[in-house]
Parts: sequence; structure tokens; C-alpha cells
Amino acid sequence: MSRIEVQGLSRRFGSVTAVDDVWLDIADGEFLVLLGPSGCGKSTLLRMIAGLLPPTGGRLRLGGADITDTPPQQRDLAMVFQSYALYPHLSVARNIGFPLRARRWRRADVRAKVADVAAQLDLVDLLDRKPRELSGGQRQRVALGRALVRDPGAFLMDEPLSNLDAKLRAGTRAEISALHRRLAATVVYVTHDQVEAMTMATRIAVLNGGRLEQVGTPAEVYDEPASVFVAQFLGSPAMNLLRTVVRAEGGRLTARAADVELDLGIEGELPQREVVVGVRPEHLNPSGPEEASIRAVVTAVENLGNEEVVHCAAGEIPICVRGPRPLDLGRGDRVNLATRARHLHLFDPGSGRRLTWRPAPVTAGV
Ligand SMILES: Nc1ncnc2c1ncn2[C@@H]1O[C@H](COP(=O)(O)OP(=O)(O)OP(=O)(O)O)[C@@H](O)[C@H]1O
Ligand SMILES: [Mg+2]
Repeated sequence: MSRIEVQGLSRRFGSVTAVDDVWLDIADGEFLVLLGPSGCGKSTLLRMIAGLLPPTGGRLRLGGADITDTPPQQRDLAMVFQSYALYPHLSVARNIGFPLRARRWRRADVRAKVADVAAQLDLVDLLDRKPRELSGGQRQRVALGRALVRDPGAFLMDEPLSNLDAKLRAGTRAEISALHRRLAATVVYVTHDQVEAMTMATRIAVLNGGRLEQVGTPAEVYDEPASVFVAQFLGSPAMNLLRTVVRAEGGRLTARAADVELDLGIEGELPQREVVVGVRPEHLNPSGPEEASIRAVVTAVENLGNEEVVHCAAGEIPICVRGPRPLDLGRGDRVNLATRARHLHLFDPGSGRRLTWRPAPVTAGV
């Protein structure tokens, strides 16, 4: 059993709080991705789980047992780092077998296990080489092999693909996902790359300034971001955000700003209030009817090959639209951007948190 329970872990460095009261319950066999911008505390949290850094608060459990004070070697966890941290003077075979020799395994057993892991990672032909004779992707596979060889209950990976070029990264991403399915092992994986998070995770935990913003499946986090921060962090180009005033008009809620009029698709009465309305670039149709929701002017068009990103301005508000090529738009064109109420995300302008008005009817005092 390799359930990992992070119970209010915190870590301060002097006056900096790198990780602030994080709670996570990671099920056995999950692939949990810690996602967030540089400096948000991902590595610090992972290093505390690995036992490489003592927490300044909170507890940690592995398979139900409290391991907060257990030294790293005695935790049933293997860590894979961004810098492969291979021994340069040892062959691939000896690098992979290192953790087993350190545990005084018999030579024949080490050889058999290394052969087994090398076959899984397609490293059989490289076993006699030194790390400097390998490509970045091959080195990362050796580092993975060294973690795998111990059959740990859980793998902790800190940006293991960030030294690889785009093509290798995509390939290795698929490889790690396949490995996770085959081994059914628990993985905690740190990245700031939203594509890695979306494609590999069973759940994503989004960190911001040391705090947990949201935990959910990739679809939940993308489709129902819990805050403006999450909404803007996932998705490229980022979600459009419009500061509007919402009021009830004829029993329906409408959000307005200059050149913007959005029917929120919610029936009810409400005192007028400010709301940040979010809509993703792919959910705006630039050939909407005259009376469409957002009136804007095209300021630039980017050709992405299969798609186009059209930058517009609705009054002062910059708005991005993404769609299949060709959208037949040019700088200076006037567009009416249409969308559907179900594609609108509503946030409180003060706290930045999601407003859960939809699809439930409005209740007083929300
Ligand atoms: N040993 C340390 N001493 C002081 N401050 C530290 C130390 N380690 C980390 N920090 C600070 O803690 C915060 C979180 O750092 P951390 O390395 O966990 O971020 P990260 O999310 O992994 O970022 P990146 O994506 O850049 O790797 C940062 O503000 C960092 O400067
Ligand atoms: Mg880091």
C-alpha cells in the first residue's frame, strides 16, 4: 500500500514560507502532478515527502504509517531528479544496479534485476556505456531505471523531462505514463508544464505561493477552475478575463462592461455587483451575429499552422480568440464574438475564487 497522506505540511526558510499548510490524500496507484509557477513550492513539498528536507509543520503518512521522522533511506520511495544525478564513472548497468549493491544484493540477483529493468526501458544495448556517451533522453531513462530497480512503493519525480527537447519530451512522457499503468505504482510528479500535467495526471494539485489552489482531475481543473489563478495558469492562450457588472434584467442575470453584454443563462434576482467573467479563447466564435455578446476590434493575428490566435480589443479589454485556420480576419477588422452561457466562468473580483452560481439558481446573499 502506497497511499501518501500529506497532512498540513509546511516549510519555512527564515521569513519565506515555501510550503504553507498543504493537505493532500494521494491514493495508491495515483499519478498526482504538483503543478505551479517557478518558486511556488513544488520541489520543497516533494523533498519533504522524500525525507530530504524536514518540515517545519505537519505530518506525513505512507501506507498508513507516520513517516514524518523516518530517514529517507528507510522510506519506500524512489526519487528521480531533473538533473539525472548519474555517477559519471559508472556504466549504465552499474548506475542502475547501484541501489541494489548498496543494499548488499547478490551479484547474480543484481544482474538479473538490472537486465529486467533495462528491457523495460529499452536500455539493453546501452548497458556498457558511460553516462557521457548517452543522449539526454537515454540518461533520463537510466535515472528512471535506477529508481525502478528497487521496486519502491512510490516514485517522486521532480521535472524529470525538463532537460529534454520537445520531441524527446513527448516520447518520454508517453513512456512514463505507460510505465505508471504497467507498474500501478503511486507517482508524485512535479512540473510547471501544463501539457505534462494535463496528459499524465490522474489528478493535478495546483500550487500558488506555497498554498494549494485546487486539486482535481485534469478535466475538472481545466473545465471548472476554482480560482482566477488556476483559470489563467491552465490553457494556452490563457482564459480571457473581463471585469463586469452583473445585474438582473427581466429576471435574468446579465454581465456588462463597455462593448460587452453577456447573458449568464441564470434566472434570478440579485443586487448589482462586480464579477470577473472568464471565457476560454476556443469558446469564442468570431463570426457571431450583430447582436453578439462582445464587440471587438482585431489587433493582431498569429498563425499556429493548424490554428489561428486572434488578438482583439473590446474597448480597453484585450481578448484572445482561438480557432481553426483560416479565420479570415485581419488587423482592424470589427468582430462580434459570440459564446454560450455554459462556457462562462464567474469569479469574485476580491478573492479571485470561483462563484458557483451555475447551474444552481441564484440564492440571496451569494
Ligand atoms: N534552501 C532554501 N533556502 C531558502 N529559501 C529556499 C530554499 N529552498 C527553496 N527556497 C524558497 O522557497 C520557495 C519555493 O521553492 P521551490 O524550490 O520549492 O520552488 P519550485 O516550485 O520547485 O520552483 P521551480 O519551478 O523554479 O523549481 C522559493 O521562494 C525559494 O526561493
Ligand atoms: Mg523546483
